[in-house]
Amino acid sequence: MTQVDWTVTLDTGLPRIDEQHRRLIGYSNDLLRAIAEGHGEASLQAFFEKLLDYTNSHFADEEEYMESVGYPDLEAHRAVHRRLINDVANSREKILGGVPVDPKRALEFINGWIVRHIMVMDSRIGEFVRIRARG
Ligand SMILES: [Fe+2]
Repeated sequence: MTQVDWTVTLDTGLPRIDEQHRRLIGYSNDLLRAIAEGHGEASLQAFFEKLLDYTNSHFADEEEYMESVGYPDLEAHRAVHRRLINDVANSREKILGGVPVDPKRALEFINGWIVRHIMVMDSRIGEFVRIRARG
C-alpha cells in the first residue's frame, strides 16, 4: 500500500476545494503511517471520526460553491456525496460496535473513493468554471 501523493490529476484548479482535498488525503496518509507503525487498528476509530466530520463540512462547502456558480450537475453530485457520507458513517458505526475492520482494507477503500471522486466528479466543477470564464 502506498501513500497518495498530490498530482496534477487531482487538481481541480479551484484553490479552496483543492486545499480541502489535500487535507482529506493528509488524513488518509496519517492512517497509512499509523498502519506502518503498527497501530492501525487503534487509530481507525479516530480516523473515521475525523473523516466523517471533515467530509461533512467539505461536501457542504463544495455544494455551496457549486450552487454559487450555477453548476448544472449539482443534484447528482450531491447524491454521490450523500452516498459517500453514508459509507463512511457505516464504517464508523461498525468500528464503534466492535466489528473487526482491517485498517488496510478500510484505507484502500477510502483512498479509492477520494481519488476517484476528485478525478471524475470534482474535476468537472473546475472545468465548468473555466469554460464559463472564457465565455
Ligand atoms: Fe465532490
